[in-house]
Amino acid sequence: MKIEIESTLISEAEIQRRVRELGQQISEDHHNRELVLVCVLKGAALFFADLFRALSIPVRCEFIQLASYDDRTESSGHVRIVQGLNENLRNSDVVIVEDIVDTGQTLTVLMEEIQALEPASVKVCSLLDKPTRRTVTATIDYVGFEIPDAFVVGYGLDYAQKYRNLREIFCIKT
Ligand code: PRP
Repeated sequence: MKIEIESTLISEAEIQRRVRELGQQISEDHHNRELVLVCVLKGAALFFADLFRALSIPVRCEFIQLASYDDRTESSGHVRIVQGLNENLRNSDVVIVEDIVDTGQTLTVLMEEIQALEPASVKVCSLLDKPTRRTVTATIDYVGFEIPDAFVVGYGLDYAQKYRNLREIFCIKT
C-alpha cells in the first residue's frame, strides 16, 4: 500500500531538545543507583540510542523485541515476544524505553516479563503517548510528547517496516 505523508508533527530539533531533558531527568532520578535501560525493539531503537547518550550516570543497556502491529496500522491485540532479555535485572533500577504507548498492551506484557525478574524498580519512558487509544491502564513515568490519534512514522516508528529512518515524526494518511 502506498502512503502519503501528511505533515510534520514533531521536528528533529524538538525531538533532540526533549531527549536531552529526559536524559537529564532520568540521570537525576537514578543518581548512585544500578540503572539498566531496556530498549524495546524495533521502534525505540533510534530514541534509545539518543537517550542512552543523554544520560550522565553509569548505565547498562538491554534489548527486548516485541511485535503486535505487523504490517497493520491497528494493533492485532496479540503481543509476541520475538526476542527476550538476556541479563539478570535483579536488584537493578530498570527504565523501559518505548517509542510509543498506544493501546498499552505491549507495555502490559513487558511489565509482566520484567517484574518477574525482580528488579528493584521499574519505570517507563516513552517518546510518544497516545492516551486516547488506551484499552488497558498504563503508567508512563517519563513522556516525551503527548500526541493526538494520528498514525505516525519516523524516528524509529514504521509503516510496514519502512520510514523508521526519517529524522522527524510525520503524520501519514494510509
Ligand atoms: C509498536 C511500538 C510499541 C507498541 C505500542 O510496536 O513500538 O512497542 O507498538 O503499541 P500498543 O501500546 O498498542 O501495544 P510494533 O508492535 O509495531 O513493533 P515494532 O516496534 O517492531 O515496530
